[in-house]
Amino acid sequence: MADIVSYSREGDIAYITIDNPPVNALSLAVRSGIQQCVRRFVADAEARAAILICAGRTFIAGADITEFDKPRQDPWLPEVIEEIEASPKIIVAAIHGTALGGGLETAMGCHYRCAVPSAKVGLPEVALGLLPGATGTQRLPRLIGPQAALDVMVSGKPMAAKAARDAGAVDHLLDDENLRAGATAYARKLLAAGAKPRRISEMSIDQASVGAGFFDDYRKSIAREARGYFAPGQIIKCVEAAVSLPYKDAVKRENELFLECMASSHSRAQRHLFFAERACAKVPDVPADTPLRPVKKVAVIGGGTMGGGIAMNFANVGIPVVLKEVNQAALDRGLAIIRGNYENTVKKGRLSQADFERCMSLITGTLDYAGVGDCDLIVEAVFENMALKKEIFGELDRVAKAGAILASNTSTLDVDEIARATRRPQDVIGWHFFAPANVMTLLEIVRGAATAKDVIATSMAMAKTIRKTAVLVRVCFGFVGNRMFFPYVREAQRMLLEGIAPERIDRVAHDWGMAMGPHGVSDLSGLDVLDKVNNEWKQKPNDPAYCRMVAKLTEMGRYGQKTGAGIYKYEGRNALPDAEVARIAKEEATRLGVPQIEVSDAEIIERLFYSMINEGALILAEGMASRPSDIDVVFVHGYGLPRYRGGPMQYGDEVGLKNVVAAMAKYRQRYGDLYWTPAPLLKELADKGSSFRAWSEAREA
Ligand code: 3HC
Repeated sequence: MADIVSYSREGDIAYITIDNPPVNALSLAVRSGIQQCVRRFVADAEARAAILICAGRTFIAGADITEFDKPRQDPWLPEVIEEIEASPKIIVAAIHGTALGGGLETAMGCHYRCAVPSAKVGLPEVALGLLPGATGTQRLPRLIGPQAALDVMVSGKPMAAKAARDAGAVDHLLDDENLRAGATAYARKLLAAGAKPRRISEMSIDQASVGAGFFDDYRKSIAREARGYFAPGQIIKCVEAAVSLPYKDAVKRENELFLECMASSHSRAQRHLFFAERACAKVPDVPADTPLRPVKKVAVIGGGTMGGGIAMNFANVGIPVVLKEVNQAALDRGLAIIRGNYENTVKKGRLSQADFERCMSLITGTLDYAGVGDCDLIVEAVFENMALKKEIFGELDRVAKAGAILASNTSTLDVDEIARATRRPQDVIGWHFFAPANVMTLLEIVRGAATAKDVIATSMAMAKTIRKTAVLVRVCFGFVGNRMFFPYVREAQRMLLEGIAPERIDRVAHDWGMAMGPHGVSDLSGLDVLDKVNNEWKQKPNDPAYCRMVAKLTEMGRYGQKTGAGIYKYEGRNALPDAEVARIAKEEATRLGVPQIEVSDAEIIERLFYSMINEGALILAEGMASRPSDIDVVFVHGYGLPRYRGGPMQYGDEVGLKNVVAAMAKYRQRYGDLYWTPAPLLKELADKGSSFRAWSEAREA
């Protein structure tokens, strides 16, 4: 087996080559390998310059994230970088693919950086709840200035090679993709010009750009986007140190702040999501090499807001879509909504006129099922009604070509029953999009009992093509997301009857990190929609108080935002508390015998989220989701949970399942067994002092 890091020399140029697939992460072996090779280069009298280069698809993509939960093992990355920089002979980083995080930090330890035109460089640690902790917060501001460095580190977004060269993060852009030859020519040119090691740590920082109030203003400018997150503030502190302290002291400060990040629940949650988002693409019983069905043309049945949004996803990636509606007026309306959505994106400068025209030209309309006969994938997106969906699938069975995938965009209904309306249940699958379907990144893919493996594999692959994060689930009412969302809404609703103001419940949920509180979301989705779902639910809890205010307000025509009144009243999109709702809630509470109580903010959070976690445990035991981390991905991508909580199951682990069960016991005493009996899996893990993560790891092993 080739060494993970190897040393070779051609003439007076040495090559330090890293070969640690898949992304050349800086594992212990890589760190010590680089250190050994740098020492060998320094001692090699024949070598005048060294090139740090990577094999495979990319330059170093960062520290090895799998090592972060393990004890530190030397050499530590900052030391390796200092050693590279200290070399008395020049070392050039040759970048291809993505030089990210510790990868870019290593490149900044080198004296010069060159990159192929397709390369990208960046410091994305913030996405893991971290900061660039191997001197990156000190080096990048010296190279590109404090403001630009903050933008790179706080956003985590990579820079394309040319932009990086223009900013100063890369010194030389190679003419083509021939990395080794280009980097060698560059190193020779440097030698010929008598270039000496250029050490970033010795460079001064552009103090002039950092006037009084600069950092406070910067904090304000990111306040909205960074709400609740820990790492962005830490990054700003590092750059403050960079401009105010000598390099060595500032590096010390960076290290302290990095360790604080590493120990934070935020970073644990965000690192958990990094792996969760990759794991959910893997289906345990569907091999990765399952042959896919070709999807070249798509049909969407139903041109309402949902159908239109779904169609846009395909057009956006160049796949032609036929939109089927029942009459010309509905079709015209559907196409006009799509056009309007695209026009808004053009206005915001996020879509060029040419792309707008290309997308629109890919979407055609039809009033006839015959128009969908040659499509490879047909997504039904009519409203949530079993009889209607079965009728449509019966029709699709007649017209669709053999092998076409028949997908239903249902949010709750039984995909197996829908499949039975066809003679090809193996081709039927659920594709549950989240509104607005052209914006939300989650796609719950629902496998029926008979769904063929290649239909699952093709659906997961197509989801990636249309830039969705797909999670595979099985058939149960509400699948994973909505099924767990019901207890959350149930508790929010119950609290309303108990006399707790909706704006307080929403504020507490928002402060915990939710994009929107449960009542705001209910009003946005439509109370009539929630009511309809409740009415279709065959196993709805036998409890007259269950979501009583949803039903009552719906009866009154208060559907939420769309009617200007729901749980709140609305001035435009501004939600205002409504004394009338408080009055009705009290009246209903009296009628139902629900006592008025006082609750703490902590109780609001416990009831909202522990009820959700408990349902998640039931879902796992039933095998409706493959892993707890899949559930977390659903909630972060589809329900506005903040990434720094990592999802409901990770939150349960973070709080400690023992504590979750103990709190549930309190509520069980108050409310009885119906909602607060801990799921057997939750109880078992709590009793053992275990976690969802440990349970999942044991199963995967
Ligand atoms: N450490 C460990 N494993 C990593 C990794 C890393 N830094 N980056 C990627 N991987 C693994 C993935 O988990 C995945 O494993 P799997 O195949 O078993 O699921 C495999 O490598 C391939 O990754 P992707 O599926 O993400 O491949 P892509 O080609 O889509 O993307 C990438 C490649 C852009 C490099 C992307 O993987 C990525 O963004 N990686 C993380 C980069 C990052 O965050 N770097 C900073 C790390 S923190 C740091 O450096 C701290 C330092 O400042 C001290």
